[in-house]
Amino acid sequence: AVEARVEELLARLTLEEKAGQLTQLFSFGSAVDPGSDASATIGVAEDPNASVEEALARAGVGSLLFVTDPAETNRLQRLALEGGRHGIPLLFGFDVIHGLRTILPVPIALAASWDPVTIERGQAVAAREARAVGIHWTFAPMVDIARDPRWGRIVEGAGEDPFLGAAVAAAQVRGFQGGGIGTPERLVAGPKHFAGYGYGVGGRDYDEVSLSDHELHNVVLPPFAAAIEAGAGNVMTAYMDVNGVPATGNTWLLDDVLRGELGFDGFLVSDANAVRNLMTHGFATDLTDAGVRGLRAGVDLEMAVSDPAYAHLPEAVRAGLLDEADLDACVRRVLAVKLRLGLFDDPYVHEGRAAEVLADPAHRDVARLAAERSAVLLRNEGSLLPLSPDALGRVAVLGPLADSRRDTIGPWVFDHDNDETVTVLAGLRARLGDGTQVDFAPGVRPGQRTFPSMFDMWGDNAPVDPEGFDDEAELQRAVDLAAAAEVAVVVVGEWQNMIGEAASRSSLELPGRQLELLQRVVATGTPTVAVVMNGRPLDLRWAAEHVPAILDVWYPGSQGGAAVANLLVGDAVPGGRLPFTWPRTVGQVPMYYAHTISHEPANQSRRYWDEESTPLFVFGHGLSYAPFSYADLTLGATSVGLEDTVSVSVAVTNDGDRDAEEVVQLYLHQRSGRSSRPVRLLKGFERVAVGAGQTRTVTFGVGPEHRRYWNAVEHGWVVDASTFDVWVGGSSAADLTASFEVTA
Ligand code: IFM
Repeated sequence: AVEARVEELLARLTLEEKAGQLTQLFSFGSAVDPGSDASATIGVAEDPNASVEEALARAGVGSLLFVTDPAETNRLQRLALEGGRHGIPLLFGFDVIHGLRTILPVPIALAASWDPVTIERGQAVAAREARAVGIHWTFAPMVDIARDPRWGRIVEGAGEDPFLGAAVAAAQVRGFQGGGIGTPERLVAGPKHFAGYGYGVGGRDYDEVSLSDHELHNVVLPPFAAAIEAGAGNVMTAYMDVNGVPATGNTWLLDDVLRGELGFDGFLVSDANAVRNLMTHGFATDLTDAGVRGLRAGVDLEMAVSDPAYAHLPEAVRAGLLDEADLDACVRRVLAVKLRLGLFDDPYVHEGRAAEVLADPAHRDVARLAAERSAVLLRNEGSLLPLSPDALGRVAVLGPLADSRRDTIGPWVFDHDNDETVTVLAGLRARLGDGTQVDFAPGVRPGQRTFPSMFDMWGDNAPVDPEGFDDEAELQRAVDLAAAAEVAVVVVGEWQNMIGEAASRSSLELPGRQLELLQRVVATGTPTVAVVMNGRPLDLRWAAEHVPAILDVWYPGSQGGAAVANLLVGDAVPGGRLPFTWPRTVGQVPMYYAHTISHEPANQSRRYWDEESTPLFVFGHGLSYAPFSYADLTLGATSVGLEDTVSVSVAVTNDGDRDAEEVVQLYLHQRSGRSSRPVRLLKGFERVAVGAGQTRTVTFGVGPEHRRYWNAVEHGWVVDASTFDVWVGGSSAADLTASFEVTA
């Protein structure tokens, strides 16, 4: 029925109306003042809001983004339905990355939970809130593999690993979309950015990438494949070029790989202004040429700040530069998604219901649980954690991030309510109650970016430098409070606007004087816990040797402080694991566990003159409140055929006296074959809760789907006969091992 309706509508549209359906414009509302510096930064000379209304009046736009007010959504929808002759509703998209009003931990944190159920539940809440305000589609999940933490958008993805990345991508799509497009209270999911955006040279955002076909297929594409397999209705293109051809005009990438190899049959949107940027790339000659090249590559919808290239498509058809059939193919996909969403029958949002959905307390519980499950306990010398809440007379909560609501929720949020955000200070005060004196001092001033960001113009994103902050006196006050306390909790990390889009860093050091704060607090002799807020690994070399307990809580979201308090006192048990290799220093990056062996193994750890070649913390690392041990690694067979699956089971024992959580991880290595394969590759994981003193058996299957890889000589996927080594344990450094043969 959808197909028939699409054909019937298509037959009635003029060329201009077709081009309009393929155009998506930003609607900034009051966020951007016409003529302001902000307007200039995002590249709009004239009033962007006026140009939206003008486009609506002539059916020159089919979709809008950035509208989150239900009344405004309805007003614009009404203009569209009245402006067009065919009653085609607008599709509203937005960046719902980690929540709308209720803010979940940032995506890298969700990945650190290694828990697809938590991730799916969290994104279902995000979808429910977004749908309640009139959003139909999210530009998420970002599934770009990131192996260079200088790149700010590492915070939006699932880290370095394609297997974990695929599991996280699929869980997010299920959360956002539910049973498929049109599921009530859910959104269309749009994995992005196709493809290789995380490979920008030098970690610089938007920069060119250097990406081999082998990395593209084996590392970059698996999370996209998983998202598409999970039913993602949309994909977004990337800004940079792949193999020298801009991704947004790359017919090989978008047609052969995305639609062909990966079987994507949804609609494709460009990143913002990426079609007109085909001119910037020196690829298209003018706007018309840019539009033709984007459309020919299969970009269905052009996302544009203003002056869309697709407005020139009608003239391109008339001039014989473009086949109308190519235009129609794109219009079909856009109309189909509007029909599947039910927008023709129910185009308006129920304004009265939004507030009720946004206030649902169940959403806060989901966010708190997600924050608890995302935290990674990096170090816990002498079992300093958990603290005994009943025995604590005085605690010093220190650090510039300890009571910063804006930083607690992290980047890429626009519709949050700061008043609802629980900071670490607030969370600890609430949990410890009147029986414990909780003192607070920021100690150091907020870190300032050296260069401002275009995101500073939105809401409360700009950094605030407090007036009259006396650096020496504040630092001393924090140290004095630490000296007088039984425990010091020092919250350090990066300010949220130092990470995210257009926020790469050339250093991984703790910004400002935070290291000095930590050092002086530790020097008081008071037992110290470092709580780290971050989206990328930071230089924690000193802390990893001198601070007894380090808990990485990422940007934990609206309920972050409540979650951190629960974790610190043992009401919740840490069980998250690192989704990336944590280097010692920026000079080591990119650094990832799944490297190949290219020289004598004895030399593997002797690569730098001035630094170890090992990371500070390995991929998959994380502790809980009890130690675990592994035994009885058992393979179902030691010799199998190419298509067979080998079962691998292991006994996991909680050797402590508290219930705790472990992420059991399976790694695989192929000894020989048609390519040189990485030293280890994650091929299975399961997060388990194991009672004190208890043992649990965990079983994995290692099948041909885990052994296949893309080979550059065959130019395709292969499965080799070889000997395979398996390791199972609590991180990528697991040492319990066995091997099996695969014969042809
Ligand atoms: O969705 C984003 C994308 O990830 C980066 N450029 C802007 C888009 C819309 O906000």
